Amino acid sequence: MTTFIKSLARPISVAAIGVFLISGGKVQAAPGGDEVVAYERRVNEIQASAPGVIQKKLQVGKKAAFFCANCHGDVGLSKMGHVPNLAGQNPVYLMMQIQKFADGRRKDDFMSGLIKALKDEDRLGMALFYASQAVPPGEVGNARQAQRGRALYMRACIGCHGASAHGNRNVARLAGQQSEYLVASLTNYRKRTGQRTDPSMTSVAANLNDEQIAALAEYLTTLP
Ligand code: HEC
Ligand code: HEC
Repeated sequence: MTTFIKSLARPISVAAIGVFLISGGKVQAAPGGDEVVAYERRVNEIQASAPGVIQKKLQVGKKAAFFCANCHGDVGLSKMGHVPNLAGQNPVYLMMQIQKFADGRRKDDFMSGLIKALKDEDRLGMALFYASQAVPPGEVGNARQAQRGRALYMRACIGCHGASAHGNRNVARLAGQQSEYLVASLTNYRKRTGQRTDPSMTSVAANLNDEQIAALAEYLTTLP
């Protein structure tokens, strides 16, 4: 529950800052537009409601997530490297991705078909349910590689994904994510095949080589 409250509290502070994220003296334009603002408003509305209302939404989400558990795990912790954890992910980001699968801005043979069948209330409930779950950090594998990943992260990613890689609004949480999935996602942005499209990420990924992608994934998967 604490994670849930925290993940709901974060969007408000950013909304207050406006459309800029300020980091280390550099100002980066925060990605997103009206769509993100609309999802954010709905999430914030629920946060401001009575505990009973929040509980009810979480129940709706848990029920709707029954089928998703086959791949994403009961509480959004995947046991397969190519399937992302959804636990602890930002609710606005999750809603954006569900919408992207549904309208073709993101492509995956299985997910795209499945998501179309989901009702709007189920999408919201699921996003809140998964966001409320804790995600434990992965094991440290290659410590030297992780160290290189950390240095690169601090240079190229921290401005949007934040110091602890928890992201915000439509910026994905990366901390504790499956490393195989992180590698695949960064590679898909770089390939520009339309599998994953996002103006911020495609330009960032264009500058990364395979070794750097592996190092970033090794670092990020171990973060709490
Ligand atoms: C057969 C396995 C399978 C099932 C069942 C499944 N998913 Fe997925 N899901 C995946 C895979 C694989 C990906 C990664 C696709 C990619 O690489 O872009 C994914 C990606 C996602 C993402 C994007 C996460 C991110 O970090 O960007 C969301 C959100 C998601 N799934 C939600 C759901 C929901 C909600 C359900 C249930 C209605 C569900 N999935 C059921 C396999 C599955
Ligand atoms: C200008 C802001 C910005 C910067 C800089 C940035 N990102 Fe992102 N990142 C985003 C946004 C926005 C998304 C969600 C994009 C989408 O909808 O596909 C994202 C998504 C991702 C994802 C997909 C996560 C998932 O769950 O599927 C990965 C992986 C990622 N970023 C890694 C990185 C890494 C590593 C760096 C640094 C090398 C970086 N990003 C730099 C904004 C940024």
